Order: sequence, then C-alpha cells, then structure tokens
Amino acid sequence: EAPKPLAGRRAIVTSGPTVEAIDPVRYIANRSSGRQGHAIAAALARLGAEVTLVAGPVNIADPAGVTAVHVESAREMLAAVEAALPADIAVMVAAVSDWRAEDAAPQKMKKKPGEAPPPLKLVENPDILKTVGHHSDRPALVVGFAAETNDVAAYARDKLARKGADLIVANDVSEEGVMGGQRNRVTLVTKDGAEDWPDMDKTDVAERLAAWIAGRF
Ligand code: C5P
Repeated sequence: EAPKPLAGRRAIVTSGPTVEAIDPVRYIANRSSGRQGHAIAAALARLGAEVTLVAGPVNIADPAGVTAVHVESAREMLAAVEAALPADIAVMVAAVSDWRAEDAAPQKMKKKPGEAPPPLKLVENPDILKTVGHHSDRPALVVGFAAETNDVAAYARDKLARKGADLIVANDVSEEGVMGGQRNRVTLVTKDGAEDWPDMDKTDVAERLAAWIAGRF
C-alpha cells in the first residue's frame, strides 16, 4: 500500500477547455486536450486526496478515483468549482475561454445569400483562478497554470500576484508537441523564485507536482 500524504485533504482540479456557445451548433473555445489536468487530478487522488475534477469537454476518460463534474462554459465551470469549496488545494489547469458571445442565439443563425456575416460581440468571462485565489473560502494552496509563448517566467510572476495564487506552473506552448501532446516542460514560479523542470511526460509532471503539493502540507 503506497503512502497517502494527502489523505483527508480535499482538492479541486479544473481541466480541458471551456466552450462558449454562439448558437446551438457553433461555439468558440480554446485548444486543450485535458491531458495535463486529468493527470494531476489522478496523481492527487493516488496520494490520498479527495479530488473533484471539473472538466470541460474532452476526449479522454475521467480518471479513476476522482469525482468528475462535466461542464461546458466558463460560467458553469466557476459555479462547479465554487460548489466544490471548501477545499485545501485548488489546481486550475483548464484553458478557460477569456471571452464568450454576448448573446448566444437560441436558434441556429441562418446564412442568407447576399447578406453580410453577423457581427460577433464578445464579453469577458469570469476568471476562475482569480476568483478562487481571492475567495472568502480560499483553499490553503492555490495553483495556476500559465501557457505562454515567450517571457514565460516573467509573465508567471505577474500572474502569481494578480490571481492570488501560491504557485504558477508556467509552460512554453511555443514548443512543438506541448499543446495536445504527451510531453511538457514547465517552470514552477512561487514568490520565492523559479524552478525549471526538465522535459517530461505530462503524467510525470503530474506525479512530481502532486508530490510538491503534498510537501506543502
Ligand atoms: O491569464 P491566463 O489565462 O493566462 O491564466 C491562466 C491560468 O488562469 C490558468 O490556471 C487557467 O486555468 C486560469 N484561468 C481561469 N479562468 C479564466 C482564465 C484563466 O481559471 N477565465
């Protein structure tokens, strides 16, 4: 029987994209496989945590040993996360759409010959990580991710403060194969400094991050 350093701890993990309806058949979304978030949820559960995984639409299975809540939009994801509070640990990995259509059409918008395409007015979505990081029921440990293509550590430091997180796991998505792929190379940024981890499988990033988290309790 493996040691369970997170036994009795509750964790919330978000994973996957959010999809924001334009009408019943069209949406805007971010690219996200859910691989990294799902692997983190599974790794925390293996260390004994009671994990709620709040997942946007993905093509991978719910990991064993977690309570999975399936959502579509950012607003649904935020509601599911808040419903899962209180928790000791929050790891916000989802690629949340920054914007949604201001008014999703209740019926399919029709393309009419000779007419200009309809305008798409976007409004801002809630920031789930920032809400959790400043929540009255704030988990003791709040972890965010930062997918950047340049100046990864600098943006992560800024994000740490702005979002009220204890740790930002920054990854360079300009690297081939990170988005949608199996491997990841991350930098951990806390108020005390930055730590580069070597390129490894997303499941290994998850194992190591879960161990890092367990070390904080
Ligand atoms: O600001 P940016 O989107 O780069 O921040 C990424 C981090 O914030 C990730 O942890 C992501 O899950 C979280 N996030 C969120 N809600 C948003 C946007 C980002 O939880 N609306």
